[in-house]
Amino acid sequence: MAHKVVVTREVFDDALDRLRAAAIVVDNQGDVPLPPAELAARAADADAIVCALTDRVDAALLARCPRLKVVANIAVGYNNIDLAACTARGVMATNTPGVLDETTADFAWTLMLGAARRITEAERYLREGQWTGWQLKQLLGVDVHHATLGIIGMGRIGQAIARRATGFSMQVLYCNRSRLDAEVERGLNARWVARDELLAAADFVVLMVPYSEATHHLIGAAELARMKPTAVLVNTARGGVVDDVALVDALRRRVIAAAGIDVFEGEPAFHRDFLALDNVVLAPHIASSSAATRRAMAMLAARNAIAALSGERPPNLLNPQVLQA
Ligand code: GLV
Repeated sequence: MAHKVVVTREVFDDALDRLRAAAIVVDNQGDVPLPPAELAARAADADAIVCALTDRVDAALLARCPRLKVVANIAVGYNNIDLAACTARGVMATNTPGVLDETTADFAWTLMLGAARRITEAERYLREGQWTGWQLKQLLGVDVHHATLGIIGMGRIGQAIARRATGFSMQVLYCNRSRLDAEVERGLNARWVARDELLAAADFVVLMVPYSEATHHLIGAAELARMKPTAVLVNTARGGVVDDVALVDALRRRVIAAAGIDVFEGEPAFHRDFLALDNVVLAPHIASSSAATRRAMAMLAARNAIAALSGERPPNLLNPQVLQA
């Protein structure tokens, strides 16, 4: 019997073509997010689900999909998937690491530069017709070059962010669960420090950790208070890594100078008070969104799903225990 694959959101046609060559595909090219009950109904007899970070794959869904072999997430982060529940049911779970590293690093830099140089504020000022002439003290920002960059979460993307810092003659500090090899550190010109030291010393603090219970509100009021009043915070990790209520308060009271935020607690909802602040650059979770990279992510998810359905080990298997069972 042919395999059935449910694709939960709109994807590029070539990813669908690749899946269609291997299975019967139920797509969602209308891109209307599927409520949990609708996803469960579509996936009830599915062998694979290709999903997005907007889909919650939990024990309740898995219980309704007895044929399911694989859940292929179109994202590197997979906190939308209950990995333990997948493993308990013998369902493989995969993500899309690697293909988005450079694009996401580019965007972390977009937010760093944008927040430091007040670009969205400046554009609003101009568009609203407020610009009446050049002034020496107009929209003064902070320098990026020769500043200290602190990266919290020094995986592949964190390292790609660090590599770019050389061109800006920056000092790089990082903290990570484990220290990088000395040679990698040397190559990145990066120094491993404790989180509190990084927060106190960095002019730019960039968050690139996965979301988990351990990283929930990693940055809250106390951590923001440790940062320099001239510092810029960038969150390209996940909503919930930062306590957004505390961040709004810190930006309002200028505890830190500015922030660049791509991800929000409870997105697509977000703390509406961000909108009233000039010192924050806001983006709707688009760090990996170049045409080439989003296509590569969809293609990789398709490849993972097809490999699992073909009895092969998917290249980005998150729970290899299911193969040993
Ligand atoms: C995007 O946020 C991803 O995890 O790929």
